[in-house]
Amino acid sequence: MQLRPMRSWIHHSRGKVLRQAVTGRRELGGLYEDMLTRQGFEGRDAYLYRRAEPTAWKHAEEGAANRTYDGQLVEPTDRTRPDGGPLRLFHHPALAVSVSRRGANMPFSVRNVDGDELYFVHEGTGTFYTEFGPIPYEPGDYILLPKGVTYRIRPSGPVNYFLVVESAEELGFADTGVLGRRAPFDPGLLYIPSPELDELGDGRDERGTWPVRLKIRDGYASLVYDADPIDVEGWSGDLFPFKLNIRDYRPVMSDRIHVMPSAYAVFATSTFMVGNFLPRPFETAPDAAVFPPYHRNVDYDEFTFFHGGTVLGMPIAPATMALVPQGLHHGLPAEVQAQVTGRLKPGDRIDTEVVFVDTTVPLTPTPEAEAAQRHAEQESGAPTAPVGDWM
Ligand SMILES: [Fe+2]
Repeated sequence: MQLRPMRSWIHHSRGKVLRQAVTGRRELGGLYEDMLTRQGFEGRDAYLYRRAEPTAWKHAEEGAANRTYDGQLVEPTDRTRPDGGPLRLFHHPALAVSVSRRGANMPFSVRNVDGDELYFVHEGTGTFYTEFGPIPYEPGDYILLPKGVTYRIRPSGPVNYFLVVESAEELGFADTGVLGRRAPFDPGLLYIPSPELDELGDGRDERGTWPVRLKIRDGYASLVYDADPIDVEGWSGDLFPFKLNIRDYRPVMSDRIHVMPSAYAVFATSTFMVGNFLPRPFETAPDAAVFPPYHRNVDYDEFTFFHGGTVLGMPIAPATMALVPQGLHHGLPAEVQAQVTGRLKPGDRIDTEVVFVDTTVPLTPTPEAEAAQRHAEQESGAPTAPVGDWM
């Protein structure tokens, strides 16, 4: 059994504070609760109670602002060209976040020998043909393709949108510790493929041979075969591709205390986590906060991808992305908090479906990501400000 590090019980309070943090929004007496936190939400923290909203800057220069991107403006080459590929948007040496909008069958197979690939299906249906067997896909699926696994994608229509997370380090499930083995999802619900030869004979180039496009040393090089590399008739072991759909993920929550985002991590490495914020009720206890406090998550960049639903009832374009670089203040503007809490009724639910990537190593946006950036959020008080701000 692995021992967990001992939790710190050393806490000091000075001046005006809440009796308990993240609760009692009516006891603040006009002060704003602002969290400073290390190691995501698991390390040391301090709550500061201040007179002005920490996000109420008059203007933020480029580089000091949280960023929002229009995912519909992203144009990977695989959208229009069968031989095209995904488009990288954000990266650091051990992690890349890309978008694929593959519009047609692959006339090749892929084998990533640089790292694991995690596809999140935002739009479209079809099949990942892998050497372990076919994995059908639909919106809301996470498909994990371990490093070195050969596959090709066969969409059933031209409209597909995948968020692709590539990790140099092996991606595993996040530790859900005390929740038990069947929460927040039952591992029996993972879809694990059975071998099946691809009778359609896809994956061939114009010469009739089967290229395998290796992703290697951050570039591409092909191996060409005379026979289909998807030729496995049986497999055995504990290393295989699989999928999990977000409908089978049951978010944990509390009626009385706002649960921090780290509770919703699904996959993790030693430096980043991939997780989801999914529909759930609002906290209903009269003294419970229903939003996270303003915060500076100083050791993590926070990337979010809006898959579906709204931002607390406010419409949002699907595939909107946001990046909050580590250390930058964010939080739902007080005006928006007041609007949302003012109309809350018992039983109201949050309907948002968001995939997030929180990473300790800062992400660099590519020029293609920068080209899809929306700039309104640099001005505080913009009505669309909550996009990346309330998580
Ligand atoms: Fe955050």
